[in-house]
Amino acid sequence: MLLLHLTGSICISLLPGFTSAVKGPGTVHGFVGRSLPVMCHYDKSYQTYYKYWCKGYDWLSCTVVVKTRGLEAEVKAGRTSVKDNHTCSCFTVTLEDLREEDAGVYWCGIETSGSDPNTQVTIVPESSSDLTDPKAVEATVGSSVSVECSYDQRYQQNIKYWCRRISERNCPPGISTTGSERPVIKNGVSIQDNHSLNHFTVTMDDLTTSHSGMYSCAVSQPGGLDLMTPVNVTVLVTDVPDSRDRGGFFQNYQIYVTFLVLICMKMPIFLTMVLAITWMHRRNRQHSDEVTTPETQS
Ligand SMILES: *[C@@H]1O[C@H](CO)[C@@H](O)[C@H](O)[C@H]1NC(C)=O
Ligand SMILES: *[C@@H]1O[C@H](CO)[C@@H](O)[C@H](O)[C@H]1NC(C)=O
Ligand SMILES: *[C@@H]1O[C@H](CO)[C@@H](O)[C@H](O)[C@H]1NC(C)=O
Repeated sequence: MLLLHLTGSICISLLPGFTSAVKGPGTVHGFVGRSLPVMCHYDKSYQTYYKYWCKGYDWLSCTVVVKTRGLEAEVKAGRTSVKDNHTCSCFTVTLEDLREEDAGVYWCGIETSGSDPNTQVTIVPESSSDLTDPKAVEATVGSSVSVECSYDQRYQQNIKYWCRRISERNCPPGISTTGSERPVIKNGVSIQDNHSLNHFTVTMDDLTTSHSGMYSCAVSQPGGLDLMTPVNVTVLVTDVPDSRDRGGFFQNYQIYVTFLVLICMKMPIFLTMVLAITWMHRRNRQHSDEVTTPETQS
């Protein structure tokens, strides 16, 4: 029987595109303290069969945690619940308040009179502190800003990325690593992982105010939720040196204009005065000449 089961599994795993009566997500990552839904799909012919969630590394000796009665009604046992849905031919197992000790191998199974169809599901609880970084950074327009994102060492080889947040879980990758330490540069943004320090650095160059906003440091997890942690980037407008420059220019301009006005307006007045004095002086001399001349003549 066991031999049959083993050879069966080997043959199944060797058959590409083999459609099992039950399909699951394989490995599921979830955050500690949150609820983790796991969905298993089954063949339509099993709609009214009992569906169950079994815990244990070995399928043959796993312990049933919770089981339906072939109906769509939810069945609960402790923090685990199972709910069948005949419309989608799927059942959802939900682990509430996920804990570290929930880590391990489980099975989605369907109770039959023969050998039960099943699929293995591995649960990987993750603490939110697996990815830590500064929550907020500030920089000035035209400068650059670097953000260091630290991660747990088990994610060394994972792809890391930097994204601009649309919503809490919607953050399309802007720039990503390849999982290696090779730096990647794109549109003035660079990202580089450092496996020995368990962190990656994101640098945004030539900042403008439009770069202000919520971003995320993220670690990609194939087959699970990407780890993400928000970073608030604020680009400050430094009008201090700017306005001082402009003030200086305006001040100099004012002095220049005043000087021009002085030259242009006062110069004619000055020239007129000089001319007037010269003319008067000359007239006086002429007059005295006229007066004295006859005297000397007579
Ligand atoms: C069953 O699944 C269908 C399709 O996914 C969904 O529209 C429906 O609301 C689900 N029913 C229940 C009872 O959850
Ligand atoms: C990682 O950081 C260490 C220490 O700062 C440094 O010596 C090393 O060159 C860095 N690695 C890469 C790939 O930048
Ligand atoms: C980001 O930081 C700025 C400046 O400190 C603040 O005004 C803004 O509200 C923050 N945004 C979020 C979403 O926390």
